[in-house]
Order: sequence, then structure tokens, then C-alpha cells
Amino acid sequence: MPTVRQLLQYKPNGKQIVALTAWDFAIAQILDEAGVDLILVGDSLAMVTLGYENTLPLTLDEIIHHAKAVKRGVKHALIVVDLPFLSYQTSTEVAIGSAGKILKETGAQAVKLEGGHPAMVATVARLVEIGIPVMGHIGLTPQSVHQLGYRQQGQSETDRERLIASAVALEAAGAFAIVLEHIPADLAKSISQKLSIPTIGIGAGADCDGQVLVTADLLGLTQRQPPFAKAYVNLRATIAQAVQDYSAEVKEGRG
Ligand code: KIV
Ligand code: NA
Repeated sequence: MPTVRQLLQYKPNGKQIVALTAWDFAIAQILDEAGVDLILVGDSLAMVTLGYENTLPLTLDEIIHHAKAVKRGVKHALIVVDLPFLSYQTSTEVAIGSAGKILKETGAQAVKLEGGHPAMVATVARLVEIGIPVMGHIGLTPQSVHQLGYRQQGQSETDRERLIASAVALEAAGAFAIVLEHIPADLAKSISQKLSIPTIGIGAGADCDGQVLVTADLLGLTQRQPPFAKAYVNLRATIAQAVQDYSAEVKEGRG
């Protein structure tokens, strides 16, 4: 099972990190058996499994409930759990309480949080200091949807510089990896080259040290997909067809 320390060996060895999200036992088991390195219990489960409009309403207890189910399905992959909106922003103490609760109650090995401003960097440093591995997440940060929308970030020169500075600061604070979401490929490439820790891209081009996708997007289960999310199969259509076949058999008395 890749531990955080083992995952850190991928980049120096030129090996890409394969990451995907999971929200329940079955999906987690399938991903794990397929050899995915890192399974993220992302707060995108707010939309893809719970039907919320965005990630903001999701509570710590809700994500813990899902993370426990994911953990039961995983034998090998590293499990990282998102800290939901307002479970870490108000103070470092609040962040320690939430991250600690996730590790204690779910058995996951690490947490992820959004943002790279100085207060968040200080929180990351403190979590790392007490032994909680942290993954950063910059660029498009969906918990800031009311400020950023879902637009690509890092387009202006000042924004590019701000993101580079955030990435460098998160690494210095001890983050073990950083998700780069929806930023220009050349910016993601320069951040990846600048850091020793791995970057994991989503909508950030091919020159990251690994990639992550929301598994519901990859499977074609979601109705609204971000422009950068590639569906590798259309499970919505497959499931609808199976249900129609079943319905027809039942109605005809053949079920
Ligand atoms: O919640 C999530 O699925 C994520 C990934 C998009 C990185 O944070
Ligand atoms: Na997330």
C-alpha cells in the first residue's frame, strides 16, 4: 500500500501518480483493485452523491460517513479525505480538530484542504507538525465558488505569481502533494518543475506529476461535467438502458 513516504518516491523516479475520487465501498473497491495509487474522498461527493448545488453545504460528519465506507473497500491505495468548507478555515485549532477526527474515525492517512494564503499555510504547517499529512489544493478551489465561479485560474500575470508563491509556501509548510485545478498547462508545468513534492493535476495539462479526476465524471454519471473532465464511459446511459430492460421484463411478466 503506498504510504505518503512511498508516494513521494514517484516523482524522483519519473513515475506518475494515478488518483481518483471515491464516495462509497463499491467504487473504492473497484478503484483499489484496478491499482489506483491515491483515492480521494473529495468533497465533490456533495454534488455527485448527495445532490447538493455545490460543495459548501457538506458537513464533516457527512464526509466521515462516506470515508469510512471507502476505507472498508481499500486494501492498497492511500486514502486522502477533503476537509469540508468551514471545518478548517476559522482557526488552526478547528482544523486540527477536524483533521484529527477524520484520521481517528475513518482510518484515512491524510487530509486535503483548499487555499494557499498565509493563514492556510500556517494551518498546514501546524497539521504537519502534529503528524497529519496534508495535501494542498490551489487554482480553482470550489469552496470559493461564490468568489471565483468555476473559471480557469492563473490567467493574469499577478494571479500566476500568486499561485506559484502559494505552491512554494505549501511545500515549505510540509504539504506532501498539491492538487492544481483548472489552471493553464504551462503554469502547472512550471509549478511542477519548481517543487520537489508532486503536483496532481485536474484540468491543468499533462505536465503534472500525477492526475486526478472525479470518478463520477470519468464514468459519465454526472449531468454537468466540467470542460476538462473526460468521460471514459457513459454509465448514465448504460444504467438507464438496464433499468428499461428490467422494467420491460417485469411489465411483460417475464421478470
Ligand atoms: O473534491 C474533489 O473531487 C476534488 C478533486 C477535484 C481534486 O477536490
Ligand atoms: Na474537493
